[in-house]
Amino acid sequence: MTSGPGSAAHRAEVLVVGDLNPDLVLTGDVVPRFGQAEQLLDAASLVVGGSGAITAHGLARLGRDVALLAAVGDDDLGHVMTTRLAAAGVDSGLVLVRAGVPTGVTVVLSRGDDRSMLTLPGAVDTLTADEVVGAATGLVGSGLRHVHVASYFLQPGLARDLPAVLVELRGLGLTTSLDTNADPADRWEGVDALLPHLDVLLPNRAEALALGDDSDPRRAAVALAARGPLTVVKVGSRGAFAATADGELVEEAGSPVEAIDTTGAGDTFDAAFLAAWLDGAGLATALHRAVTAGGHSVLHTGGTAGQPTTAELEAQGATP
Ligand SMILES: Nc1ncnc2c1ncn2[C@@H]1O[C@H](COP(=O)(O)OP(=O)(O)O)[C@@H](O)[C@H]1O
Ligand SMILES: [Mg+2]
Repeated sequence: MTSGPGSAAHRAEVLVVGDLNPDLVLTGDVVPRFGQAEQLLDAASLVVGGSGAITAHGLARLGRDVALLAAVGDDDLGHVMTTRLAAAGVDSGLVLVRAGVPTGVTVVLSRGDDRSMLTLPGAVDTLTADEVVGAATGLVGSGLRHVHVASYFLQPGLARDLPAVLVELRGLGLTTSLDTNADPADRWEGVDALLPHLDVLLPNRAEALALGDDSDPRRAAVALAARGPLTVVKVGSRGAFAATADGELVEEAGSPVEAIDTTGAGDTFDAAFLAAWLDGAGLATALHRAVTAGGHSVLHTGGTAGQPTTAELEAQGATP
Protein backbone atom coordinates (compact mmCIF):
# COMPACT_ATOMS: atom_id res chain seq x y z
CA MET A 1 0.00 0.00 0.00
CA THR A 2 1.49 3.36 -0.98
CA SER A 3 -1.39 5.70 -0.26
CA GLY A 4 -4.63 5.71 1.62
CA PRO A 5 -6.37 6.72 4.80
CA GLY A 6 -4.37 9.10 6.92
CA SER A 7 -2.31 10.54 4.05
CA ALA A 8 -4.46 13.68 3.85
CA ALA A 9 -7.57 15.18 5.40
CA HIS A 10 -10.68 13.73 3.78
CA ARG A 11 -14.22 15.09 3.78
CA ALA A 12 -17.25 13.35 2.41
CA GLU A 13 -20.99 13.11 2.87
CA VAL A 14 -21.05 9.79 1.02
CA LEU A 15 -18.41 7.05 1.02
CA VAL A 16 -18.64 4.64 -1.90
CA VAL A 17 -16.96 1.27 -1.35
CA GLY A 18 -16.32 -0.91 -4.36
CA ASP A 19 -14.69 -1.47 -7.68
CA LEU A 20 -12.54 0.92 -9.70
CA ASN A 21 -11.22 -0.29 -13.02
CA PRO A 22 -11.04 0.94 -16.58
CA ASP A 23 -13.74 -0.12 -18.98
CA LEU A 24 -12.54 -0.55 -22.55
CA VAL A 25 -15.86 -0.09 -24.34
CA LEU A 26 -15.90 -1.47 -27.88
CA THR A 27 -18.74 -0.84 -30.35
CA GLY A 28 -19.38 -2.09 -33.87
CA ASP A 29 -18.69 -5.66 -35.00
CA VAL A 30 -18.14 -6.89 -31.43
CA VAL A 31 -19.37 -10.48 -31.45
CA PRO A 32 -16.08 -12.39 -31.50
CA ARG A 33 -15.33 -14.88 -34.26
CA PHE A 34 -12.43 -17.16 -33.56
CA GLY A 35 -10.19 -18.81 -36.15
CA GLN A 36 -7.90 -15.75 -36.21
CA ALA A 37 -10.59 -13.55 -37.76
CA GLU A 38 -9.79 -9.81 -37.47
CA GLN A 39 -12.90 -7.68 -36.92
CA LEU A 40 -12.94 -3.91 -37.39
CA LEU A 41 -14.66 -1.80 -34.73
CA ASP A 42 -16.57 1.48 -34.94
CA ALA A 43 -15.13 2.87 -31.71
CA ALA A 44 -13.02 2.03 -28.66
CA SER A 45 -13.06 4.16 -25.50
CA LEU A 46 -11.05 3.67 -22.32
CA VAL A 47 -13.28 5.14 -19.61
CA VAL A 48 -13.72 5.12 -15.83
CA GLY A 49 -15.41 1.85 -14.93
CA GLY A 50 -16.42 -0.22 -11.96
CA SER A 51 -19.86 0.21 -10.45
CA GLY A 52 -18.42 1.88 -7.35
CA ALA A 53 -16.31 4.33 -9.32
CA ILE A 54 -19.14 5.25 -11.69
CA THR A 55 -21.53 5.81 -8.77
CA ALA A 56 -18.96 7.99 -6.99
CA HIS A 57 -18.35 9.94 -10.20
CA GLY A 58 -22.10 10.43 -10.62
CA LEU A 59 -22.46 11.77 -7.08
CA ALA A 60 -19.61 14.23 -7.67
CA ARG A 61 -21.30 15.34 -10.90
CA LEU A 62 -24.42 16.05 -8.81
CA GLY A 63 -22.32 18.26 -6.57
CA ARG A 64 -22.04 15.92 -3.60
CA ASP A 65 -18.98 15.51 -1.39
CA VAL A 66 -18.04 11.91 -2.13
CA ALA A 67 -15.03 9.70 -1.43
CA LEU A 68 -14.27 6.37 -3.08
CA LEU A 69 -12.67 3.48 -1.21
CA ALA A 70 -11.36 1.06 -3.83
CA ALA A 71 -8.17 -0.84 -4.62
CA VAL A 72 -6.02 -0.64 -7.73
CA GLY A 73 -2.62 -1.98 -8.74
CA ASP A 74 0.57 0.06 -8.90
CA ASP A 75 0.30 0.45 -12.67
CA ASP A 76 -0.66 2.84 -15.46
CA LEU A 77 -4.33 1.85 -15.53
CA GLY A 78 -4.74 2.39 -11.80
CA HIS A 79 -2.98 5.73 -12.01
CA VAL A 80 -5.15 6.95 -14.90
CA MET A 81 -8.37 5.92 -13.13
CA THR A 82 -7.45 7.63 -9.86
CA THR A 83 -6.41 10.80 -11.69
CA ARG A 84 -9.66 10.95 -13.69
CA LEU A 85 -11.80 10.52 -10.58
CA ALA A 86 -9.94 13.26 -8.77
CA ALA A 87 -10.36 15.57 -11.79
CA ALA A 88 -14.12 14.91 -11.62
CA GLY A 89 -14.25 15.98 -7.98
CA VAL A 90 -14.27 12.58 -6.27
CA ASP A 91 -12.00 12.36 -3.22
CA SER A 92 -9.73 9.59 -4.49
CA GLY A 93 -7.25 9.89 -1.66
CA LEU A 94 -8.63 6.74 -0.05
CA VAL A 95 -7.96 4.62 -3.14
CA LEU A 96 -5.53 1.91 -2.06
CA VAL A 97 -2.59 0.97 -4.28
CA ARG A 98 -1.67 -2.71 -3.99
CA ALA A 99 1.82 -3.84 -4.86
CA GLY A 100 2.13 -6.89 -7.09
CA VAL A 101 -1.54 -7.01 -8.15
CA PRO A 102 -2.83 -5.55 -11.44
CA THR A 103 -5.60 -3.00 -11.63
CA GLY A 104 -8.81 -4.71 -12.68
CA VAL A 105 -10.01 -4.15 -16.23
CA THR A 106 -13.23 -4.84 -18.12
CA VAL A 107 -13.60 -5.17 -21.87
CA VAL A 108 -17.18 -4.22 -22.74
CA LEU A 109 -18.55 -5.57 -26.00
CA SER A 110 -21.39 -3.08 -26.42
CA ARG A 111 -24.40 -3.38 -28.72
CA GLY A 112 -26.83 -0.57 -27.91
CA ASP A 113 -29.16 -1.94 -25.27
CA ASP A 114 -27.12 -5.07 -24.50
CA ARG A 115 -23.52 -5.79 -23.61
CA SER A 116 -21.09 -8.56 -22.75
CA MET A 117 -18.32 -7.92 -20.24
CA LEU A 118 -14.95 -9.65 -19.89
CA THR A 119 -13.48 -8.74 -16.51
CA LEU A 120 -10.10 -9.25 -14.87
CA PRO A 121 -10.87 -8.55 -11.18
CA GLY A 122 -7.22 -7.78 -10.35
CA ALA A 123 -7.03 -5.66 -7.19
CA VAL A 124 -10.83 -5.31 -6.93
CA ASP A 125 -11.19 -8.23 -4.51
CA THR A 126 -8.59 -7.01 -2.01
CA LEU A 127 -10.57 -4.55 0.13
CA THR A 128 -10.91 -5.68 3.73
CA ALA A 129 -13.54 -5.12 6.39
CA ASP A 130 -11.03 -3.23 8.53
CA GLU A 131 -10.26 -0.86 5.67
CA VAL A 132 -13.96 -0.11 5.14
CA VAL A 133 -14.71 0.49 8.80
CA GLY A 134 -11.46 2.47 9.17
CA ALA A 135 -12.26 4.74 6.22
CA ALA A 136 -15.81 5.38 7.43
CA THR A 137 -14.69 6.03 11.00
CA GLY A 138 -12.13 8.55 9.71
CA LEU A 139 -14.81 10.42 7.77
CA VAL A 140 -17.55 10.52 10.40
CA GLY A 141 -16.24 13.69 12.03
CA SER A 142 -16.24 15.52 8.69
CA GLY A 143 -19.91 15.01 7.85
CA LEU A 144 -20.13 11.46 6.52
CA ARG A 145 -23.76 10.35 6.41
CA HIS A 146 -23.94 7.36 4.10
CA VAL A 147 -21.94 4.37 2.83
CA HIS A 148 -22.81 2.76 -0.50
CA VAL A 149 -21.31 -0.64 -1.35
CA ALA A 150 -21.03 -1.67 -5.01
CA SER A 151 -20.30 -4.95 -6.78
CA TYR A 152 -20.74 -7.34 -3.87
CA PHE A 153 -20.13 -10.46 -5.95
CA LEU A 154 -16.81 -9.20 -7.33
CA GLN A 155 -15.47 -8.87 -3.77
CA PRO A 156 -15.93 -12.25 -2.07
CA GLY A 157 -13.25 -11.37 0.48
CA LEU A 158 -15.17 -8.35 1.73
CA ALA A 159 -18.55 -10.02 1.17
CA ARG A 160 -17.88 -12.57 3.93
CA ASP A 161 -17.46 -9.81 6.50
CA LEU A 162 -20.05 -7.41 5.15
CA PRO A 163 -22.88 -8.18 7.62
CA ALA A 164 -20.61 -7.22 10.53
CA VAL A 165 -19.27 -4.20 8.61
CA LEU A 166 -22.80 -2.89 7.99
CA VAL A 167 -23.64 -3.30 11.67
CA GLU A 168 -20.54 -1.26 12.57
CA LEU A 169 -21.36 1.43 10.01
CA ARG A 170 -24.87 1.80 11.37
CA GLY A 171 -23.40 1.90 14.85
CA LEU A 172 -21.50 4.99 13.68
CA GLY A 173 -24.86 6.58 12.84
CA LEU A 174 -24.52 6.03 9.09
CA THR A 175 -27.09 4.82 6.58
CA THR A 176 -26.17 2.07 4.11
CA SER A 177 -26.97 0.97 0.57
CA LEU A 178 -25.94 -1.85 -1.75
CA ASP A 179 -25.89 -2.47 -5.49
CA THR A 180 -24.79 -6.08 -5.75
CA ASN A 181 -24.63 -6.06 -9.57
CA ALA A 182 -24.60 -9.48 -11.18
CA ASP A 183 -23.05 -12.61 -9.70
CA PRO A 184 -20.62 -13.98 -12.32
CA ALA A 185 -20.88 -17.38 -10.58
CA ASP A 186 -24.72 -17.19 -10.72
CA ARG A 187 -25.05 -18.35 -7.08
CA TRP A 188 -26.47 -15.15 -5.54
CA GLU A 189 -25.54 -16.20 -2.00
CA GLY A 190 -24.98 -14.14 1.12
CA VAL A 191 -27.27 -11.16 0.51
CA ASP A 192 -29.99 -12.43 2.86
CA ALA A 193 -27.72 -11.77 5.82
CA LEU A 194 -27.21 -8.17 4.68
CA LEU A 195 -30.85 -7.17 4.24
CA PRO A 196 -31.62 -6.27 7.88
CA HIS A 197 -28.60 -3.92 7.89
CA LEU A 198 -29.34 -2.06 4.65
CA ASP A 199 -31.39 1.10 4.15
CA VAL A 200 -31.51 0.86 0.35
CA LEU A 201 -30.99 -2.06 -2.06
CA LEU A 202 -30.57 -1.17 -5.75
CA PRO A 203 -30.73 -4.24 -8.03
CA ASN A 204 -31.66 -4.31 -11.68
CA ARG A 205 -34.57 -6.50 -12.75
CA ALA A 206 -32.55 -9.69 -13.28
CA GLU A 207 -30.72 -9.19 -9.99
CA ALA A 208 -34.00 -8.62 -8.11
CA LEU A 209 -35.41 -11.89 -9.49
CA ALA A 210 -32.30 -13.81 -8.44
CA LEU A 211 -31.95 -12.17 -5.02
CA GLY A 212 -35.67 -12.41 -4.24
CA ASP A 213 -35.88 -15.94 -5.66
CA ASP A 214 -39.11 -15.18 -7.53
CA SER A 215 -40.11 -15.05 -11.19
CA ASP A 216 -42.06 -11.81 -10.67
CA PRO A 217 -39.92 -8.71 -10.11
CA ARG A 218 -42.49 -6.85 -8.02
CA ARG A 219 -43.08 -9.82 -5.73
CA ALA A 220 -39.31 -10.28 -5.46
CA ALA A 221 -38.85 -6.62 -4.52
CA VAL A 222 -41.64 -6.69 -1.94
CA ALA A 223 -40.10 -9.82 -0.36
CA LEU A 224 -36.65 -8.22 -0.23
CA ALA A 225 -38.05 -4.97 1.19
CA ALA A 226 -39.93 -6.88 3.89
CA ARG A 227 -36.55 -8.02 5.21
CA GLY A 228 -35.28 -4.45 5.65
CA PRO A 229 -34.17 -2.23 2.80
CA LEU A 230 -36.16 0.08 0.57
CA THR A 231 -35.75 -1.96 -2.63
CA VAL A 232 -35.33 0.03 -5.83
CA VAL A 233 -35.43 -2.03 -9.03
CA LYS A 234 -34.06 -0.73 -12.33
CA VAL A 235 -35.86 -2.06 -15.38
CA GLY A 236 -33.83 -0.67 -18.27
CA SER A 237 -35.84 1.31 -20.82
CA ARG A 238 -38.94 0.76 -18.69
CA GLY A 239 -37.63 2.92 -15.85
CA ALA A 240 -37.73 1.67 -12.28
CA PHE A 241 -39.95 0.89 -9.32
CA ALA A 242 -39.47 0.78 -5.57
CA ALA A 243 -40.91 -1.42 -2.83
CA THR A 244 -41.06 -0.26 0.77
CA ALA A 245 -40.92 -2.38 3.92
CA ASP A 246 -44.70 -2.13 4.35
CA GLY A 247 -45.37 -3.42 0.83
CA GLU A 248 -46.04 -0.12 -0.97
CA LEU A 249 -44.97 -0.06 -4.64
CA VAL A 250 -44.05 3.16 -6.45
CA GLU A 251 -43.45 3.09 -10.22
CA GLU A 252 -41.60 5.47 -12.54
CA ALA A 253 -41.88 4.60 -16.23
CA GLY A 254 -39.31 7.10 -17.50
CA SER A 255 -38.90 7.96 -21.17
CA PRO A 256 -37.37 5.21 -23.29
CA VAL A 257 -34.61 6.31 -25.64
CA GLU A 258 -32.54 4.41 -28.17
CA ALA A 259 -29.51 3.44 -26.10
CA ILE A 260 -26.04 4.02 -27.50
CA ASP A 261 -24.31 2.22 -24.63
CA THR A 262 -25.89 1.06 -21.36
CA THR A 263 -22.59 0.68 -19.48
CA GLY A 264 -22.95 2.28 -16.05
CA ALA A 265 -26.59 3.34 -16.47
CA GLY A 266 -27.56 1.56 -13.28
CA ASP A 267 -24.68 3.11 -11.36
CA THR A 268 -25.60 6.60 -12.57
CA PHE A 269 -29.18 5.81 -11.54
CA ASP A 270 -27.89 4.80 -8.08
CA ALA A 271 -26.01 8.10 -7.68
CA ALA A 272 -29.05 10.20 -8.54
CA PHE A 273 -31.40 8.09 -6.40
CA LEU A 274 -29.11 8.24 -3.36
CA ALA A 275 -28.55 11.99 -3.72
CA ALA A 276 -32.31 12.58 -3.72
CA TRP A 277 -32.95 10.07 -0.93
CA LEU A 278 -30.28 11.70 1.26
CA ASP A 279 -32.02 15.04 0.68
CA GLY A 280 -35.23 13.53 2.03
CA ALA A 281 -37.03 13.65 -1.32
CA GLY A 282 -40.22 11.63 -1.68
CA LEU A 283 -39.95 8.24 -3.32
CA ALA A 284 -41.63 9.34 -6.56
CA THR A 285 -39.29 12.32 -6.87
CA ALA A 286 -36.18 10.26 -6.12
CA LEU A 287 -37.22 7.65 -8.69
CA HIS A 288 -37.95 10.31 -11.28
CA ARG A 289 -34.54 11.90 -10.81
CA ALA A 290 -32.80 8.53 -10.96
CA VAL A 291 -34.61 7.38 -14.09
CA THR A 292 -33.86 10.72 -15.76
CA ALA A 293 -30.17 10.31 -14.88
CA GLY A 294 -30.15 6.73 -16.20
CA GLY A 295 -31.73 7.93 -19.43
CA HIS A 296 -28.92 10.51 -19.81
CA SER A 297 -26.29 7.84 -19.25
CA VAL A 298 -27.35 5.54 -22.08
CA LEU A 299 -26.98 8.30 -24.68
CA HIS A 300 -23.19 8.28 -24.20
CA THR A 301 -20.47 5.65 -24.38
CA GLY A 302 -19.17 4.49 -21.02
CA GLY A 303 -20.51 5.05 -17.52
CA THR A 304 -19.52 8.63 -16.77
CA ALA A 305 -19.72 10.68 -19.99
CA GLY A 306 -23.50 11.08 -19.81
CA GLN A 307 -23.87 11.73 -16.09
CA PRO A 308 -26.09 14.77 -15.49
CA THR A 309 -25.53 17.70 -13.17
CA THR A 310 -28.32 18.76 -10.81
CA ALA A 311 -29.11 21.66 -13.17
CA GLU A 312 -29.46 19.25 -16.10
CA LEU A 313 -31.81 17.02 -14.11
CA GLU A 314 -33.93 20.00 -13.11
CA ALA A 315 -34.03 21.23 -16.71
CA GLN A 316 -35.77 17.91 -17.50
CA GLY A 317 -38.38 18.44 -14.85
CA ALA A 318 -36.72 16.28 -12.22
CA THR A 319 -37.43 18.71 -9.39
CA PRO A 320 -35.39 18.75 -6.19
N1 LIG B 1 -33.15 2.49 -23.34
C1 LIG B 1 -33.27 3.26 -22.25
N2 LIG B 1 -34.00 4.41 -22.29
C2 LIG B 1 -34.12 5.19 -21.21
N3 LIG B 1 -33.55 4.91 -20.02
C3 LIG B 1 -32.82 3.79 -19.92
C4 LIG B 1 -32.64 2.90 -21.01
N4 LIG B 1 -31.87 1.85 -20.59
C5 LIG B 1 -31.58 2.10 -19.28
N5 LIG B 1 -32.14 3.26 -18.88
C6 LIG B 1 -32.05 3.89 -17.56
O1 LIG B 1 -30.96 3.35 -16.86
C7 LIG B 1 -31.43 2.72 -15.65
C8 LIG B 1 -30.60 1.53 -15.32
O2 LIG B 1 -30.57 0.61 -16.39
P1 LIG B 1 -30.62 -0.96 -16.16
O3 LIG B 1 -30.12 -1.55 -17.44
O4 LIG B 1 -31.97 -1.35 -15.70
O5 LIG B 1 -29.60 -1.19 -14.93
P2 LIG B 1 -28.12 -1.82 -14.88
O6 LIG B 1 -27.26 -0.84 -15.66
O7 LIG B 1 -27.79 -1.85 -13.43
O8 LIG B 1 -28.23 -3.17 -15.50
C9 LIG B 1 -32.89 2.43 -15.91
O9 LIG B 1 -33.59 2.34 -14.71
C10 LIG B 1 -33.28 3.63 -16.73
O10 LIG B 1 -33.46 4.75 -15.90
MG1 LIG C 1 -26.00 -2.47 -12.31
